[in-house]
Amino acid sequence: MLNLGILISGRGSNMESILKAIKKNGIPINPAVVISNKADAKGLKIAKKLGVSTEVVESKGFKGSRAEYDEKIISVLRKYKVTPKNGLVCLAGFMRIISPEFTKKYKNKIMNIHPALLPAFPGLNSQKQALEYGAKFSGCSVHFVDAGMDTGSIIIQAVVKVHEKDTEDSLSKKILREEHNIYPEAVRLFAERRIRVYGRKTKII
Ligand code: GAR
Repeated sequence: MLNLGILISGRGSNMESILKAIKKNGIPINPAVVISNKADAKGLKIAKKLGVSTEVVESKGFKGSRAEYDEKIISVLRKYKVTPKNGLVCLAGFMRIISPEFTKKYKNKIMNIHPALLPAFPGLNSQKQALEYGAKFSGCSVHFVDAGMDTGSIIIQAVVKVHEKDTEDSLSKKILREEHNIYPEAVRLFAERRIRVYGRKTKII
């Protein structure tokens, strides 16, 4: 069976939706470890409650390079057998940029959830960006992670309507509901080996 590693930085609601879907829907993947770059991430408690191993690789005060930090993450992933060969890494609100060394080693084995319809509004505060731009629709995207910022092949997207009255908070909540649907679905497709990557395009079979 494939092994799953989830990387978080905070709340962990996407992590929770994935872990619960694995149990409830029998997704054929073993939730091996949740790793946080912050010791006080709320998601760590949720993971423990759900019976999943947790680890912290503190990023604050880390003196080395980005690649050296990621090497520490990779060694934890290896410890839990989340390897490029039989693993999947899900970034779930992991607020760090991944080094090209990491993305190369785990090519098409790292997924991310982004709260906008990529390639629109990459980076931070995407919901605010969408509102300020005057977008009539926004949404979320699950994509493979490459060396760029939110540029990897898109796996699934979901759309939400932006209303005139929407605030950053109301739009974020609407988008988050969709995130909790499409991220577990992307994990299921990966676990069932139904995602093919052709250049920058993916095809679900
Ligand atoms: C989610 O909205 C996710 O899309 C976003 O952070 C939030 C994490 O929430 N990620 C990014 O903005 C990545 N650029 P969660 O910790 O409750 O899953």
